[in-house]
Amino acid sequence: MTVLKIVKMGDPALAVKSLPVTDFNDETLQTQIADMIDTMRHYQGVGLAAPQIGLSRQIVVLEVAQNARYPQADSIELDVLINPRIIDYSTQTEAGWEGCLSLPGLRGHVTRSGSISYQAFNRTGEPVTQTVYGFHARIIQHEVDHLNGVLYPQRLANLQDFGFEDSLPAFSKQTLL
Ligand code: NI
Repeated sequence: MTVLKIVKMGDPALAVKSLPVTDFNDETLQTQIADMIDTMRHYQGVGLAAPQIGLSRQIVVLEVAQNARYPQADSIELDVLINPRIIDYSTQTEAGWEGCLSLPGLRGHVTRSGSISYQAFNRTGEPVTQTVYGFHARIIQHEVDHLNGVLYPQRLANLQDFGFEDSLPAFSKQTLL
């Protein structure tokens, strides 16, 4: 098990577009994926993108299983998305609280599409197309943003809906996400 250091907001590695994975037989790819899963679980994240471990590669891991940081969320099986592309966004949107392991202790209220369709490759290089909803769609939008060098504060409509989770009245009273 390898838990890597998480790169925090302000680091230039989080502000650039990641490079696509081109060789699925590259042994370092599987090691990097395994390390990302270990790191996400260790820090109780629901998702992690490669730039967050300082790696410029289009790799995302996600999993929701009784997560203490998101106690109301439905569980989502461990998934690995390589070179993901969001191909359709619902016009229907949902506002919800987001956090990010690269901004520890902070939360922001972000409006995202309520459902999305995406194409990606799985960890063995097979293509996958899927439509996901709600929190699952939110996680993938957040993680694909990371691959494009975008952090959730750039998506905030109102900076008053951004702050420390132990100090935001609206966050502490929320019942959903
Ligand atoms: Ni994040």
